[in-house]
Amino acid sequence: MSTSQGSHVRATDWWRSAVIYQVYPRSFADGNGDGTGDLAGLRARLGHLARLGVDALWLSPWYVSPLADGGYDVADYRDIDPAFGTLDEAEALIHEAHALGLRIIVDLVPNHCSEQHPWFQAALTAGPGAPERDLFHFRDGRGENGELPPNDWPSHFGGPAWSRTADGSWYLHMFAPEQPDWNWEHPEVRAEFLSVLRFWLDLGVDGFRIDVTDHLVKEDGLPDAAGHHHQPHPWRDQEGVHEIYRSWRKVLDSYPGERAFVAELWETDPERFARYLRPDELHTAFNFPLLRSPWAADAFREVIDATLAAHALVEAPATWVLSNHDTTRHVTRYGRADTSYDFDRAARHGLPVDLALGTRRARAAALLTLALPGSAYVYQGDELGLWEVEDIPDHLRQDPTWVRSGGVDRGRDGCRVPMPWDGEEQPFGFSPERASAAPWLDVQPDGWRELTVQAQSGDPTSHLTLYREALRLRRETAGLGDGPLHWHASTSQVLDFSRSDGFRCVVNLGSEPVPLPPGDLLLASGPLAGGALPPDTAAWLREA
Ligand code: NOJ
Repeated sequence: MSTSQGSHVRATDWWRSAVIYQVYPRSFADGNGDGTGDLAGLRARLGHLARLGVDALWLSPWYVSPLADGGYDVADYRDIDPAFGTLDEAEALIHEAHALGLRIIVDLVPNHCSEQHPWFQAALTAGPGAPERDLFHFRDGRGENGELPPNDWPSHFGGPAWSRTADGSWYLHMFAPEQPDWNWEHPEVRAEFLSVLRFWLDLGVDGFRIDVTDHLVKEDGLPDAAGHHHQPHPWRDQEGVHEIYRSWRKVLDSYPGERAFVAELWETDPERFARYLRPDELHTAFNFPLLRSPWAADAFREVIDATLAAHALVEAPATWVLSNHDTTRHVTRYGRADTSYDFDRAARHGLPVDLALGTRRARAAALLTLALPGSAYVYQGDELGLWEVEDIPDHLRQDPTWVRSGGVDRGRDGCRVPMPWDGEEQPFGFSPERASAAPWLDVQPDGWRELTVQAQSGDPTSHLTLYREALRLRRETAGLGDGPLHWHASTSQVLDFSRSDGFRCVVNLGSEPVPLPPGDLLLASGPLAGGALPPDTAAWLREA
């Protein structure tokens, strides 16, 4: 057994201020040349992350999985998928990351598993009425011959949330049919996940990102959703989830080294959101309203104020997220006429994008989010200014949402394209030279030649240099991360706030340059116009 102790990571409520980098293992770096990102590739590229200056990595699932949903369909919660490597490599990665001062957060998927999970397979084999089936939500269908799903719940990926087995019964899956939902009323399910938590904590991980945190408990009797207007919803945010997270928190707190949780929560009511962050529950949660917000100072200000007020209720730090493996990359979002984000991807896909505008705004957004109170997330490639790849040929699309929606939703592949590292030719160093296979999603745009880590290193104006500088200053500046924020009066087009220690951030979201307040310029997201801050630009200042 190993722990975080003895490593170079500092224990100081680190999660309240941490900058956490999301690795999507399949697309980060391919070490063995088979076209799929893996742990060997990640280990070889850890230096990039240390140099970038982040505090921790969150790894999207690395477990044994048929990859029906990019690894969010777990067949074995205690082992690494052979496509990614081995458990020994995972342990080595944790040690190497710790030696570089980087913590490791792993993804935990407790709402559902893979249809290949041995317990689901045993349930299928055991047949209707068998106790093995109680670990999942098996039901008889409705209709004369049970030919209709047991209720009207839709799957998030399109179609009904129920599939029928060969023996005629139905099972619940809130996502793809390959992802049966666990029955969290069953004590064995609860015990199993406590044991899984311990397994990874014993191996030395520093925390967990919890997938669809609010879905675990379903309303008694699984009632129809139609006409169900009251909160909570029948499949999410049920009161019962909170006791599960209290029990998890106890386990985490019994380990040395300040391990932490981050919840994936798309809850829009700030007060219900904050209930997950009560002191005996989860430490942090992704705060998605900023990601959904249009590029507008009043909309951003409203989100920032609401976020800070809700988190203050429970004394939890806020988190700031611009992109992840489920959403359209923000360079692309911010370059469209409608800069907001929602899951109606089909309606937004392929709309005209001004990438230069989106990139300018993405640079400003980086300085904004890294200056706000709390912790911030960087999705792999954000630091390079990667855009969404929207012209993926349909036959290469792999996201289950594409097939499940009957080809309406073009899915999330466009933000999961393999990273460009170096060189002049695709796959830009993603796989080693003389690889045996092309990348699993072989659609890197030609234009990424200028965006490789190699091409951007040493260029003082590059996106990567901006991130490196911002993260360096954030580390050196005591007032950043967790702590108070003070707004200055400004026009409705500008965000202007100070943190402690004389640090000030000004962002111009309007269409005219605005005067910069007095102070020493620490960093700007783009060139300044004389003493003025141009549109779509942010500046960090040290107040005089
Ligand atoms: C949220 C994950 O981020 C997403 O990628 C996945 O498809 C769903 N949860 C289901 O696990």
